[in-house]
Order: sequence, then structure tokens, then C-alpha cells
Amino acid sequence: MTAIFFVYSAYVWTAGTEAPQHAAPTEQVMRGQALYQDNNCMACHQFYGLGGYMGPDLTNVVSRMGPDYARAFLIAGTERMPDFGLNQQQMDDIIAFLEFVDTMGVYESPEYEFKWYGTVVAKND
Ligand code: HEC
Repeated sequence: MTAIFFVYSAYVWTAGTEAPQHAAPTEQVMRGQALYQDNNCMACHQFYGLGGYMGPDLTNVVSRMGPDYARAFLIAGTERMPDFGLNQQQMDDIIAFLEFVDTMGVYESPEYEFKWYGTVVAKND
């Protein structure tokens, strides 16, 4: 028992405790995050499935569709997404923030099935 204790302790003390390292957010990313909050993007969009459900999940939108695609929505909005009147710099900041979120992880958004009686069911549940 004592031997196991020492062997295990030696293991615990020497085993690395490194977690995956991500680059710290830059000033620009922080500004983008503030804009994301101020403009209430999360009212309609999700990260990792959390948020409002009017628009799509944005966790990996940049790697899925590219930054120019994401920018197109910010430039003028769509029929369902408002135009926020952002200037060039603000759009750059938000895209930088979305790129940063994208490098943090991968989220496969489930597909939803809409029942005729109004219930929404995730297909891969
Ligand atoms: C009132 C709801 C609403 C708000 C608020 C909103 N969006 Fe959207 N957004 C949408 C909808 C809906 C779509 C899907 C396109 C469509 O149906 O017109 C969309 C699409 C997008 C897309 C393309 C996503 C894809 O996968 O096709 C991006 C990027 C995006 N929005 C970013 C933002 C950002 C950044 C903000 C905050 C500045 C924001 N949206 C605020 C409703 C919204």
C-alpha cells in the first residue's frame, strides 16, 4: 500500500498539467465581443447551441463559410436580420471575434425537425 502511495504520488507530481493552449484574445477580439453583446447578436444566434434561435449557430461560421460570407450579413442585414449600421472597423472587430470563437472548438449544430403541432425536435437526439 505504501509503495503504491509513493509510486502514485511520484506519478501525480511529475505528470504534466498542461491544458490545450489557445492564443489570448487580442484587443480587437475584445472589441468585437463587446459589439456582439451591445448589438444583442445572441438574441438570435447561438454559440455551442446556446442563445436565441431565430438565426443559425455562429460557433464555426467563419471556417464553414469564410469571413467574407459572415461579413456580407453585417454589411446590410437580410430580410430577417437587421442592419446594425456598423462601420468598417466595427465589422472587422466582430469578424475577428467570430474567428477567435471558431478557433476555440467545434460545434456540430443538430438538425431540427418541425412537427406540424408546433414542437421542434433535434434530429440526432
Ligand atoms: C433579429 C435577429 C438577429 C439578430 C439580432 C442578429 N442576427 Fe444574424 N442572422 C439572423 C438570421 C435570421 C440569419 C439567417 C439569414 C436569414 O435568414 O436572413 C442570420 C445570419 C447571420 C450570419 C450568417 C450565418 C450563417 O451560417 O449563414 C451571420 C455571420 C450573422 N447573422 C451575424 C450576426 C451578428 C454578428 C449579429 C450582431 C451584430 C447578428 N447576426 C444579429 C438574425 C439575426
